[in-house]
Order: sequence, then C-alpha cells, then structure tokens
Amino acid sequence: MGTDAATGPKRVVARAPGRVNLIGEHTDYNDGFVLPMALPFATTIAFERSDDDMVELDSVGFDSTSFHLGADPTSVKSWAQYIAGVARFLAVDGLTVQGFSAKIDTNIPVGASLSSSAALEVATGFGLCGLAGVEPDPVYIARIGQRVENEIIGIQSGIMDQLISATGVDGAVVQIDCRTLETTPVSLPAASRVLILDTMTRRELADSEYDLRRQACERAAAAIGVPKLRDATMSDVAKLPEGTPEERVDKARAHHVVTENARVLETVAALAADDLERVGDAMNESHRSLSVDYEVSSPALDEMSAIARSHEACFGARMTGGGFAGSAVALVHADRADAVADAVAEVWESRHGVRPDIWAVDPSAGASVAPA
Ligand code: GLA
Repeated sequence: MGTDAATGPKRVVARAPGRVNLIGEHTDYNDGFVLPMALPFATTIAFERSDDDMVELDSVGFDSTSFHLGADPTSVKSWAQYIAGVARFLAVDGLTVQGFSAKIDTNIPVGASLSSSAALEVATGFGLCGLAGVEPDPVYIARIGQRVENEIIGIQSGIMDQLISATGVDGAVVQIDCRTLETTPVSLPAASRVLILDTMTRRELADSEYDLRRQACERAAAAIGVPKLRDATMSDVAKLPEGTPEERVDKARAHHVVTENARVLETVAALAADDLERVGDAMNESHRSLSVDYEVSSPALDEMSAIARSHEACFGARMTGGGFAGSAVALVHADRADAVADAVAEVWESRHGVRPDIWAVDPSAGASVAPA
C-alpha cells in the first residue's frame, strides 16, 4: 500500500455481512478447517472523508462518539475500538487514513454469535481502503480485523469470522483452510436450507473461557510435538497423557479439534454427494463434541439444537460460533424450512415464554465498497 495522499472519492459506502458457521467450530485457531457462509444480514457504513484528524461516529443503536486519529484505540468507547483499531493498523501499514465521519447501520443481531463485530471491522477496512482509493484485499482486511480482536479487544480469536465476512460467496458456503487461508465455495444442495435459531441468551464472561480453550489446544499440540492440532491424528490424541485433571481436559479438547476437522471434510464430501443425512449426522456429532469434549455449549444451546433435531424435516443441528450463548444452526428440508422454524419457535415459547428469532437464510456475498 502506498503512502501518497488519499486519491479516493470523498464519500464511500462499505458493507460487510455477518456469518453463520455450518460446521468446523474452534478449529480456526488450530490451523484447521471451517465451513461458514456470509449472511444476508450486514453492517453498512457511510464514510465521508474530512480535512482534520477527527473521527466522528454515528451509529444506529449506540451513542455517537468521536476521537482523534492519534488516540490510543483502547482508550475510545468500547464499540468504537473496532473502528479505531482498524484505522490504526491500516495507517501503520502505510495506508493514507485521514479523519472521517461514519454513519453505521446494521441488521446483524448483536451477541447472537453471528459476528457483528467482525462485520464492523471488515466494513471499516473496506471503507477506509475505498476512501484512500485503494482496492481492498479481502484476506488482508480479514487479518487486520483479527489483529484488532487480538491486540485491541484482547480476545485471541481466529480468522474465520473476518475472513468469511470479507470473502463470502453468494449462494455457497465456503470451506476455509485456516492454515493457507485458501477459500473454496461449496454449493448447498437445493433440497436443503439453513436455519439460524437464536436462543436470545447472550454471553457473559465468555472471553476468558475462549482464551483458555486456545491455551489447552496449544498445550496438547506441544505434548504431541506438532505445531498445531491441525497436524495431529486420532492416534496422537489417544496417546496423550491423562494423569492430571489438566491433562484429561487438554486431551478432551484435542479430541474435539481433531474429530471436528475430520467432520468438516466429511461434510464437504457429503454435500458434494447430495447426502444431506450425512451432513446432518456430522452437525449433530459436532454439537455433542462441543458440548461434552470442548464444553462451550450451554443449556439453552443444547435445548435449542435438540428441539430442532427432533423435527422430522431437520437433517441436523448444532450450536454455532464461539458458544456459551447466542444461536444454533440447523440444516432442514428446503420446502419445510418455515414449518420447522414455526414449530421450533412454538415449542421454545411454550417452555420459556419468549419467542425466539429464527431465520431461514441463504449464503450471501462478502464485503464490498463503492463510491457514494
Ligand atoms: C469465535 C471466533 C472465531 C472462532 C469461533 C469458534 O467466533 O471469533 O475465530 O474461533 O469463535 O469456531
């Protein structure tokens, strides 16, 4: 990226979608495989370049705020840190970042495990490239977003959310190799439809749990003698020691990751073969593994997945995203999607007195930016 003065348009509109992950959970930071899709829900930001070094943010749903481009990104309002962090890292890399105003709007439910923060980062990255007259490189912008999570927000999350938001494909789920960052679109058979089932629970104190999972994986990989659990086999996992409580936990975590990577590959093969029953079985087994071995599910996620699974038109269901709260994902018969959604919502409402949000969604395009 050059360091010349901005040559882009004065106003751009950037758009970045949320995501749902069909399968491949807690594998990304182990250099493994994931199979997410970008959602029709997105964050849209209208940017206007200014002549000073101030950033003025106006967001539907959050208080407006402003900060100087030179400010430490961790010192600004919490929701603005995503934007300040992206602006900072792009500028450090040599992109011309001037002051700007940004009007932010989103229809991605916050806290529902649908990656609203990744969408905010990716939309900001695309928008600031657009203002500077630079074509955004989606993989680079995804990495910038991940750095903001890791270094500004303080969560050691992987690359999946930002990468699918930046590279999503209209009409396809995307297999991502999180080691090479190679992306491969995979079509969903026409007979199937994806449902997102929001338990309406929101996560608390989950960030430290996330980092603990990552540390357990790193210990297990070191004990096996491989760089990442991506490189481990089931027989490696079987040989891990289980003398201490920590060793037993690490072994269970490694068991999840190694089997989950295999389930992603199995799911891709089953989708290519139109074998939706096999896809559903892999999703169900993924949930069990996340719940029992990885311990990132919750009673609400277990229950929502089980209700969906018990419907005859459902192939399989599981929690999606980091876990502890938020949404489940189900694969259902396309022509029965609304019926499944209604039936699950009714059971949930009768038990909990709250009508959950359930959406039938199609895979959508990734982020974009255009002059306004
Ligand atoms: C969160 C993280 C991702 C990924 C998932 C779990 O969404 O941001 O990087 O680790 O959890 O698969």
